[in-house]
Amino acid sequence: MEFSTRTIHAGQPSEPATGSLIAPIFQTSTYEQDAPGVNRGFDYSRTNNPTRARLEAVLADLEGVAHAAVFGSGLAAENAVLQAYLKPGDEIVIPLDVYGGTYRLLTKVYEPIGCVVRQVDVADHAAFEAVLTDRTRLVWIESPTNPRLLVYDITRICETAHASGALVVVDNTFATPVFQQPFQLGADLVVHSVTKYLAGHSDLIQGAVLARDLAVFEPVKFLQNATGAVPAPFDCWLTLRGLKTLELRMERHARNAEAIALALQAHPLVKQVFFPGLPGHPGHEIASRQMTGFGGMVSFELDGTVDEVVSFVSSRRFFALGESLGGVKSLLSHPARMTHASIPAAQREKLGLSDTLIRLSPGCEHHKDLVADLLTGLEAIAAARQGELSLHV
Ligand SMILES: Cc1ncc(COP(=O)(O)O)c(C=O)c1O
Repeated sequence: MEFSTRTIHAGQPSEPATGSLIAPIFQTSTYEQDAPGVNRGFDYSRTNNPTRARLEAVLADLEGVAHAAVFGSGLAAENAVLQAYLKPGDEIVIPLDVYGGTYRLLTKVYEPIGCVVRQVDVADHAAFEAVLTDRTRLVWIESPTNPRLLVYDITRICETAHASGALVVVDNTFATPVFQQPFQLGADLVVHSVTKYLAGHSDLIQGAVLARDLAVFEPVKFLQNATGAVPAPFDCWLTLRGLKTLELRMERHARNAEAIALALQAHPLVKQVFFPGLPGHPGHEIASRQMTGFGGMVSFELDGTVDEVVSFVSSRRFFALGESLGGVKSLLSHPARMTHASIPAAQREKLGLSDTLIRLSPGCEHHKDLVADLLTGLEAIAAARQGELSLHV
């Protein structure tokens, strides 16, 4: 079955009792038992719920594995993996540009209890190999990354990590299974902020963990029930609805991102464009190999001042200024003042994260409108500069 067919059919038969084409929302906390301890597969909705089970089945299918657990947020999903695999004294390796919430979880929750977080440029293979020890339990990567859309060689990282006995977790939020299949590249676990492209409509918060091997999955599944960070049935139903158009949406997001990247690249007020689809992007060659599309995100550095960035991001017609990404309605953000504001300026500079970087999450609008909106903003900056110049003449 092809991918788009699976988004609609995998784990989603019509509801058997009534024939309802779309399964109802099983909005229930508990289930009547036939006899004490005898149930029909469900006993309590923290442990399992039919709407959630359908969502877990389709997500597992789309990532090409047998096991999925859906959580109340992406960070709850990440936390279940970390809690399952990190004990005091254990080490985890993360890239320099890991998602800020993951970094906060590791440094503010796991480091204080004695876990060791080793941050390294995982693209520098020698440095990556050197940081692995016999205490390294996990290697955690995102690819493409946020906000510079760097691309890491997942196969190579997995081979090296496995040789030293560590498991590899890939955050596949940005690429989605439409464009990247981390299990085929060697990953042991995949995590998602379902909040983003998978749900796709900026109307819920949700996360997921997927695993190929039952032995790797079981500790996570145990924690899902034991710690209880489960999603509401309604949110699972919304994601099931969103997933049915995942491939269509991703194709549109990617087409829009490419059109925007090309338009921005040609503009004199743009210093640099970050999009893995551009041949000049440092991750282009790896992305061409390990992804089937370049994703829907674009970032760019304005050749201007921070004040100009602030006025640009605050006055777009179709790009709302906001923290998230991956929805049908376009969003943009100013990482230095928003998502990455908690990182000290000196470290931001070390990460190559300029104060004039703007991150775009093009939605599913028409690319002509989105490009025109961005060009209008750049023209406004040029006009303001021209105006200032003439005042001084
Ligand atoms: C790459 C990535 N992973 C994980 C998360 C956390 O997910 P959530 O916000 O659903 O908890 C985010 C959120 O922005 C993200 O961008």
